[in-house]
Amino acid sequence: MHAARSIAQPFALFSALLCATLLAATPALAQTAKPNVVIVATGGTIAGAGASSANSATYQAAKVPVDQLIASVPELANIANVRGEQAFQIASESFTNEKLVQLGRRIAQLVKDPAVDGVVVTHGTDTLEETSYFLNLVIHTDKPIVVVGSMRPGTAMSADGALNLYDAAVVAGSKEARSKGVLVVMNDEIHSGRDVTKRINIKTNAFFSQWGPLGLVVEGKTYWFRLPVKTHTAQSEFDIERITALADAQIVYASGNMNPAMYDTAATTGAKAIIHAGTGNGSVADYVVEKLKTLRARGIHIIRSARVPDGLVLRNSEQPDDKYDWIVAHDLNPQKARILAAVALTKTSDSRELQRIFWQY
Ligand code: DGL
Repeated sequence: MHAARSIAQPFALFSALLCATLLAATPALAQTAKPNVVIVATGGTIAGAGASSANSATYQAAKVPVDQLIASVPELANIANVRGEQAFQIASESFTNEKLVQLGRRIAQLVKDPAVDGVVVTHGTDTLEETSYFLNLVIHTDKPIVVVGSMRPGTAMSADGALNLYDAAVVAGSKEARSKGVLVVMNDEIHSGRDVTKRINIKTNAFFSQWGPLGLVVEGKTYWFRLPVKTHTAQSEFDIERITALADAQIVYASGNMNPAMYDTAATTGAKAIIHAGTGNGSVADYVVEKLKTLRARGIHIIRSARVPDGLVLRNSEQPDDKYDWIVAHDLNPQKARILAAVALTKTSDSRELQRIFWQY
């Protein structure tokens, strides 16, 4: 008994010391257990301000700086170690190809940093879907990149920006969000940056993906139901570090009683590709076909998309694409097709290769 007690005392002392050390280290461990998320701000309504709380749709976008955005959601500190960068302070309708390349280069640098676990991009909702698809095509990483916006300014009653930003940071810090491509978080939903589009211009449930969201984020947790199948991010053949400038691709919106000269304007101002936002299944009016054939003969690519929000444009259906050497945009809407054309044309101008790219990405 005496022998046992003599051994037990030093052991008890050691155990007490070990527990005290672990308890003292717990906050530090808890602190380091949180992911490191960088919020790159570009402007938009999420940084907007209205004259009164009743102004949910009348306000000025791109006013609130990123550090104030972060400070306005103190709950962010509970789920991540967050810091902010102000890339731009613009309404997103004013994005240009040059700004896309600049933003892409910065994000590519950030995700290379081993101390960065994920990136959130705050963005106006008008062209958010274009930026998210662009980043999905050119950033070589498996880390989560989450683009987020809001439909109401933070000054409005029932503003949506704070929870959208919190949810975006949760997803950006989540290991389960890795390797799923660039994501868009809006209104509790997690969308693929490739598929998502803004369908409503005045409500908080503005964003839709015709093939459905990938998942949900609720009360700080992510719930996943689908995975993207199109090539993206780390597996993409396009790399922002090898892109200095995007190609100019312009969209012409089809309707009845079109003026074929609209296509000439795109061509004479330097478009390397024209996205035909066709009626129905990418249809082309009989009095426009010759114009497009002429422009194709001059080396400009004709890409048939559709003004109809859902579905996909079938090759050689409404038009003999093989015969005219035209391309179909698959399920991509005109604005997404413009982004893919702008990126793809930095690598090839071969029609067959371009069509393969439109089916693969
Ligand atoms: N001007 C629009 C933009 O910056 C405001 C819309 C929004 O951000 O929700 O995209």
